[in-house]
This record gives sequence, C-alpha cells and structure tokens, in this order.
Amino acid sequence: MAKKIVKSRFYFEEGFQEHLAEVSTDSPESWGDNDTLEIVGKPVSRIDGYDKVSGTAVYAFDKIFPNMTYARTLRCPHPHAKILSINTAEAEKVKGVLKILTHENTPKIPWYGMSYLFDPHLRFEGDEVAVVVAETEQIAEDALQLIEVEYEELPFVVDAGNAMEEDAPAIHESGNIQGGKPSTYSRGDIEQGLKEADVVLEDTFSTQVVIHNPTEFHCSTVNWDGDDLTVWDSTQAIFGVRDSIARSLKIPSNKVRVIKQYMGGGFGSKLELGKYTIMAALAARDIGRPVKIAVDRRTMNLAVGNRPDSVQTLKIGAKKDGTLTAIAHSSFGAAGAYPSGAGCSWPARSMYNCANVFTEDYTMFINAGPGRPFRAPGHPQGFFALDSLLDDVAEKLEMDPLAFRLKNYAEIDQVANQPYTSKLLKEAYDEGAKAIGWERRRKPAGSDQGAIKSGIGMASQIWWGGGGPPAGAMIRLNRDGSLRVIAGTQDIGTGTYTFIAQVAAEVLEVPVDQIEVILGDTAVAPYCGGSGGSTTAPSVSPAVRDAAEKMKAKLISGAAAVFETPENQLSYKDGVITDNTNTSRSLGIAEVVRKMRERVLIANGARGENPDGYSINSFGAQFADVSVDTETGQVTVNRIVASHDIGRILNRKTLENQFHGGMIQGLGYALMEERVIDKNTGKVMTTNLHNYKMPTVKDIPEMEIIIVSDGDPMISNTGVKGIGEPAIIPTAAAIANAVYNAIGVRIKSLPITPDKVLNALYG
Ligand code: MOS
Repeated sequence: MAKKIVKSRFYFEEGFQEHLAEVSTDSPESWGDNDTLEIVGKPVSRIDGYDKVSGTAVYAFDKIFPNMTYARTLRCPHPHAKILSINTAEAEKVKGVLKILTHENTPKIPWYGMSYLFDPHLRFEGDEVAVVVAETEQIAEDALQLIEVEYEELPFVVDAGNAMEEDAPAIHESGNIQGGKPSTYSRGDIEQGLKEADVVLEDTFSTQVVIHNPTEFHCSTVNWDGDDLTVWDSTQAIFGVRDSIARSLKIPSNKVRVIKQYMGGGFGSKLELGKYTIMAALAARDIGRPVKIAVDRRTMNLAVGNRPDSVQTLKIGAKKDGTLTAIAHSSFGAAGAYPSGAGCSWPARSMYNCANVFTEDYTMFINAGPGRPFRAPGHPQGFFALDSLLDDVAEKLEMDPLAFRLKNYAEIDQVANQPYTSKLLKEAYDEGAKAIGWERRRKPAGSDQGAIKSGIGMASQIWWGGGGPPAGAMIRLNRDGSLRVIAGTQDIGTGTYTFIAQVAAEVLEVPVDQIEVILGDTAVAPYCGGSGGSTTAPSVSPAVRDAAEKMKAKLISGAAAVFETPENQLSYKDGVITDNTNTSRSLGIAEVVRKMRERVLIANGARGENPDGYSINSFGAQFADVSVDTETGQVTVNRIVASHDIGRILNRKTLENQFHGGMIQGLGYALMEERVIDKNTGKVMTTNLHNYKMPTVKDIPEMEIIIVSDGDPMISNTGVKGIGEPAIIPTAAAIANAVYNAIGVRIKSLPITPDKVLNALYG
C-alpha cells in the first residue's frame, strides 16, 4: 500500500491545524457525479436508526459496569468567590456515601494552564466545589446538601464591556483581555479604501450568548481494571479526550480507552475533556469501583460551554457602482472565565471581494461559564453584522442586495490569496433566489399594508470544512461475507455510521446491511480526528473508500491466484469476481476468503493529501420569508431556503437532517435563544429549557434545501465538504434582513424579540 508523510493544514473550529500526516498516495480518482453511483448520495436510512429508536443504543450514561456508583457535583452559587473553608463531615456520615472529593484531598491537576481541578478560587456560577460519589445518585445528591462551604464573595463582572473597564475585577492575574491584546488582521489600506468610497456606513451590532443545550447531557462512565482506565464518554473527540486524560492523570495513553458509540448532540460543547471525567476517574481509582458522572440541564446552562456574545462595530465603504472599497470590523465579546475564542471577524475578512480590510477582535474574560466552540464559531454572529450592514449599503446605493453581493463576488480566497478548489456560490444564489421568489421582496422595505407585514431577506455563507489527513479506516472481511469497517472517528448524531457503510458498500458492490460499522473506540481503531469543524465526512469518507478499494484489489488478487489467471482477466461486479476468459468461473467475495483459507481479510486505508495552493471552502446562501406582527412585535418565519455548495452529497436524508437542525438552531439564535445574567447578582436567570427559549415544533418554518454541487474532485477521492456548520451560518442574518424588508426598520441586536421590534417601530 503506497503511503507517504505530507504536511497537512486545515481549519478546525477556531484555528488552522497543522499535521505531518501519513496519506494514501495510490487512491483512485475522485468519483464522478452522484448519478454514476449506486448507493452514495441516496437517502439511505440510518443504519443505527433501529438501535436508537428502540432504546438499545448505549449512550455514555447507559453504560453499566458491575458495582456501579454515581457522582453528583456541588457547584459554586456565586459568580466569583473563594472557598474559605469546606466541611464534609456531615455528608460523609450519610449511609451509602463512598467518597467526597474537594480541593483539600485532590491533587492539583492543571487546567488551561491558568487554574486547576478544584481550584478554590471560583470564577463563575457553576464552578466545581466538591464531588460526592455514592451508591445511588439520590444519596449523592442528598449528601451534597450537607456539605458546608464558607465562601468569600468577590467583586464580579459578567459583561464583556464592563470587563474592559480600568477598575474591573480581574478574573485571572493576566488581566481580562484574553491573550493580553486583540487579535487583528489587515490587508490593503483601510483609510485609503474609505477615502475611495462614495458611500460609507457605520453601525454597531450585538449578539447574545447562546447555549449549546444538546439533548444528551455531558456524561462519563469510568471504570478501572487494574491500571487500565475505560471511559465511556459523551465526546466529539475520542482520541483527544484519551490523550488529555492520560496527561491529566500522568498515565500512558495506552492505559486509557475512550469509547463513545452514540451521542445526543454536542455542537462543539463536547470537543474537549470535561473536568467531570477526571473527577470521576480519580474517585473511581480511589474507591476501586466504577463511577458514573453526568451534569444536569441546569449545569448545561451554566458550566459546559456557550457561544460567546459580541458587540461589533462595522464600517463598510463602497463605490457608486457597488464595488466594496473598505471593510473595518471591530468586536469584543465575552468568552467566560476560561480561554475560548469570541472573535467573529472571519466573515468580514473572507466572504466578499474587498482590497482593504481591517479587523480586530477582543475576547474578554468574565465571571460566567466558559465559552466553547459552537457550530461555526464566530460565523453566525459575524454574518449577522456583515450581511445586515451590507444590505443597508445596498439600499443606500439603490442596488438589489443580491446584485450587490454578486458585484463583490470573491473569485479567489481573499485571505490566502489563492484559488478555491471549487466555488459554486453564484449557482447557489441563483437557485435560492428562484426558490424563495426573490422578486417578491418588498420595495421599498416595509411597504406591506396592514398590521402584519412580510418580507424576504438573504445572507451568504462561507466555511472551511474540507477536512484533511490524517484519517484512517480498516475493513475486515470474514469467510461468510460479513464486513466490518472500523474507524477512529465518532458519530455525534450526524449519520457517520451510515455514510461509512454506504461508501464501503458502493466500492465493494454489496448491500449496505452487509456492513457493520465500528466507531468511537480508541482501543481498536485507526486514528481519525475529532468531529468538529465540519471535517468528519470530508476527512473520513476518503479513508473508507481507500480501504474498500484496497480490499477489492486484494480480493481480485486472491481470485486471480485461485483461478491461476492474470488479474486483468477478471472482472468485479456486485461482489462477484468473474474470469472473463471463462465466464462459468466466478467467485463471490466470501468464497475468495474461504479459498484463500483466511478467516478474516484486512485492508487499511487512509485519506489522501489536500491539493497544494488551493483553498477548500464551502459556500451557500439562505433566504428567509418572514411575517412581522407590528402590533405585537412577533416575528414568524414562514420559510427558509438553504442553497449551498458542499461538494458531494453522501446521503440526502442525513444531509437534510443536519440542515434542518442547523436552520432551526439558527432560527432560535435569530429570534429567541439567550442566556440572561442578572448584572446585579451575577447569576444566570436561564438555567432550564423553560426560561432558556429554544424553538419548538410550532416555530419551525417550511424548509427547502438545495445543493448545487456534486462532488469536488480536487479535494479527495470522495469530493465531500462538511455540512454541519454551513447549515447554521447564514440563517440568523437572512432572517434579520427579512425582518428589515418587512418593517423597514433595522434591528441591530439578536435575538429579535418582540420588545426590540416594538421599540424599533415606535420607541
Ligand atoms: Mo464544532 S463547533 O463541534 O463543529
């Protein structure tokens, strides 16, 4: 098998990752269009669907070891405090309590290099104070109530703007600006660009903190067997978590096995190791029994991640003919008490053709739960500001917003200054506009008669999501023809199991249900990266195809040996190999294995390298049709059309699932979701799904999904780009522009709640 080591660089969540990766060099050419394929692209139902709906799927919380014990966590009720004393004596007396961990009896395990496990300096409401392990969850919960903690309450700051003030309380010794300074970017000459402009508009936009709130709680079930640790974890990155556990506990990585078979969503909140996992591992080692630890919904809303908020000041200059001459973007946002990125300037840098761009992003510490990457970090907030102001500039220029975007179409990557492997955004604009009925836009904005006014708006999308090496896959073929694909990736609810089976079935020309897929186990699988950045399918599908092609080659070679015929005399069709010179001679793939007297035939595959000198991005646009009740301020989204270039569709059904999810999450961001902190007490007011408003079935609009692409042959042998994040990126911005088109007044702050609409109309 031909392999070599290459430099690999691709965008993953909040930055570019670089690897020296082993790649496959003899993989076949990229597939042709999907209509040349039998199984890939088809709406195959999830192969794990039955397990999920029947309840037999084992999630991290479902895993039971003999002698199971349960942990509950005591969390800080204050936004900023120090533990003066902690007394666990009464709690320890409770029958069934097995262990209580606090800062007093736990090693100082570093966290983010700026804190440690059970740091008595508590920096947000929800910070961990103690963990009780008991025979049952209820006993653990009861005992928690008996722990006496004396806190020294400290001055706090829960707003990014306030955190920038001179006399703001310091969350960390290093100051409240993460990294000590803003992250900046510039190209061209911004002042010159503004001078050249005929129209310059400047405005400030703000977005709220939203919470990932996946269905499944963050959870680990841990078990020590001697010095071997097994962790069933609800994680998006089994290998990353494995290595972080090993580092934290100072044990070798091969002593840690992380397993994750199923997940009820993560959206970025489950990309990294949770403190709870280490706490459970320490307690389990101590008591010599397995420990199950989960956070509850309240904690999900306090402590395990959020999308940072933003205040964005944006200045755009354009010439009379619509040519953009300058984009200046300055933002600040709060990432909570620990490092995470609040930057949101990538859309301003990368979406449109513009010679003069300047951006700066301040990410601030505040006394609130840590931010985490959240489905296209920075992009939904960045596009809300950028595409809102862009529409305002278009109006000023008396240009159609879509024509304005086409006028400034970026033919090459504006930041890397190199071509894209493919970009079908024009096609996406075109198809999307047709589907929504773009000519129905209100001219002028707000011109509908009556109390209920309707409007149409659109916004653009760019993301990375090309993935890259390293990613490996293994295929095992048994004597009975049953096949197993093993890969070190994980299905975070998106359909990874299913597309892997489809890709292998396509190559080997066997039914999908002949293929079993094993994912999410660090002990058995070739390495794949974490499932984030919309990189899973684009990284893993080519490795699976490579492994399947190598298996096919092995089978042909095996059959040639059995027939004592040259390989080029054989043909492979529907899992049967036939001797072309004597067509009565044929062998099914299982027979080849038997004739070879093998018990299991194994083939390994790897992803190939990305092309040099090209950028891989996905593109798209979403179009929203809304109605606004100008008496109540209520916005109703009637319809969203998503029109995207995402390379090849692997599975139409799981693609639609992901788009629906992203668009609904984007609608929640646009209209209702918001973490609210009371500035006087520093406490979070939205800690359940009653107060934290998410879209329900009655909020969900008609959704149409148009994919204008069909494989990008330059990327990989499957030509796939990721879709998880593109799906949410333009939704809120498109809705905001539709609201403007309906009422003729710009709402500059998300979420667009009725009070903001009424204030904008009559305030
Ligand atoms: Mo990521 S924010 O899990 O794609």
